[in-house]
Amino acid sequence: MSLTSRRRFLRESTLASSALALAATSFSRSPLFAQASATSVDANIRIFPGEPIGTIQPEIYGHFIEHLGGVIYDGVWVGEKSKIANVHGIRKAFIDTMREIQAPVIRWPGGCFADSYDWRDGIGPRDKRPQRSAFWTQDDSNQYGLHEFMETCRAIGAEPYLAGDVRSLPARDFYQFVEYCNAPSTPVELGPGQPAGINTLAAMRAKNGSAEPFNVRYWGVGNETWGCGGNQTPEEYAGEYRRYTTWLPRYEGEKELRLIACGANGDDARWTAGVIKALNGQTPYGFSTHYYTSGDKAHFARGSALQFDDAEFYDVLARAATMDRIITDSWSALGEADHAHRVKIVMDEWGAWYGDDSRLGPHYNLSQQSTMRDALLAGITLDIFQRHADKMAMANVAQTINCLHSLMLAEGDQFTVTPTFHVFKMYMGHMGGQSLRTEFSADSITNAIAQVTAVGGNSAAGSIDPARSLAGLSGSASLKGKTLTLSVVNPHLREAVTAEIAIAGMQMASATGVVLTEPDVHAHNDFAHPNAVTTQPARTGTPTGGSLTHTFPPASVTTLTITVA
Ligand code: AHR
Repeated sequence: MSLTSRRRFLRESTLASSALALAATSFSRSPLFAQASATSVDANIRIFPGEPIGTIQPEIYGHFIEHLGGVIYDGVWVGEKSKIANVHGIRKAFIDTMREIQAPVIRWPGGCFADSYDWRDGIGPRDKRPQRSAFWTQDDSNQYGLHEFMETCRAIGAEPYLAGDVRSLPARDFYQFVEYCNAPSTPVELGPGQPAGINTLAAMRAKNGSAEPFNVRYWGVGNETWGCGGNQTPEEYAGEYRRYTTWLPRYEGEKELRLIACGANGDDARWTAGVIKALNGQTPYGFSTHYYTSGDKAHFARGSALQFDDAEFYDVLARAATMDRIITDSWSALGEADHAHRVKIVMDEWGAWYGDDSRLGPHYNLSQQSTMRDALLAGITLDIFQRHADKMAMANVAQTINCLHSLMLAEGDQFTVTPTFHVFKMYMGHMGGQSLRTEFSADSITNAIAQVTAVGGNSAAGSIDPARSLAGLSGSASLKGKTLTLSVVNPHLREAVTAEIAIAGMQMASATGVVLTEPDVHAHNDFAHPNAVTTQPARTGTPTGGSLTHTFPPASVTTLTITVA
């Protein structure tokens, strides 16, 4: 049955056929909502300003760049002598694009690469830096190191988030990494019997170009310690965490250090509960969790970025939506020991991870194209983060350029943004807003692949069962002053969904919108067609009293900016 034939006149609706539709009927009768319109609609969106969830940390729009394939070399770093436009060797288009979306934080240098990376290799004159064998079976010239990363963050206006190596370096190197970054390079009075002097590592940093401390506050204590970070048990890792963080140097006037412990692989709540319990009362700032979305293994190994049918399209989005369960399961697991919920979730690797068939070039390990499907996946994921604003401290898309779920692709002097970049830009209005409980009532979509697959998931996802259905509309709402931002994903491949939007207890003065949609969800940008997929203004109705009717096109991501009276 098509959506259109299921349209309901909600105002008079007494014969709602589903629980959600029943809920919609009761919304329209609630005194909190102004009189609903008589327009024919498929769905309802109800926003509750009286039920704030939490402030949306801008850091959930964070990034991740690793020494892997073409991410750093060619993606971010082209070198000062390059003919490609650059700022001190950093690709200018990368900086400009990150500034355009106000990228708040960047994680570096990995990933698995970080688990065998010595930060001392990447400082000092570039022509003296060692060439090393590195994790992703590629040698690294160390031309891009700590100072180049800090310059990247500075040029963008982003906070650095350093992943410390706790698999192959001793604890001393971890605290000296903090010391090198954060110790002041001004003389320090040491008291009787000792000459006043400058901290040796700070002096080294100054000699290497930065007298000012980097003042880094986000520190990852290991990466994927359940896997490439040492194949540890939760108890073993908790012991390492305690040992590496028992003492770290602190300096007057610096920002509070925010330590991030290694959390679970997908929905592995057993890991999360095991680590938090074995931390014996220590409370890191966050627990890093990783969840990648791949296609169903029973059908294709990880799936293809560009070749997929309708069933695979819905299956991947349904798997992406299991992020909701991963967050709530991780939260419950943390609560087993951290009863006050001081430790927040840092989803510092997320995105789509397909097979190798759309790799950019031979040296671009783990690179893939990014289509409209991935834009919808990004919208669904960011909306989930926002609906859990009380739990989420940060998230980092993996990875920003030339990799899995990228916002940019670059090869030599060629450059393009992907559809996912547009979603990040469209969602900027949410940053720092107050997330509001929002209900979406729309008929869900059956995931045909899940119906025939007993157990799904992918190697990086832990034990994720394929979701059996996908919400027919999903999204999130946030409020900043009198501006309400509503983002909505319509995953239906061929059906527009018309929804009546209402805000409890508030009138709407005006609304504008932006939409990302394409008739073919395989649509993507490439170097020859960098603007094949782009946004356009969304034509929306005029709010009448407390409600607004809006039609969300098939396979679309929309943001509406509503001024409330
Ligand atoms: O993002 C690619 C890799 O995926 C990272 O290096 C690792 O942490 C994860 O397994």
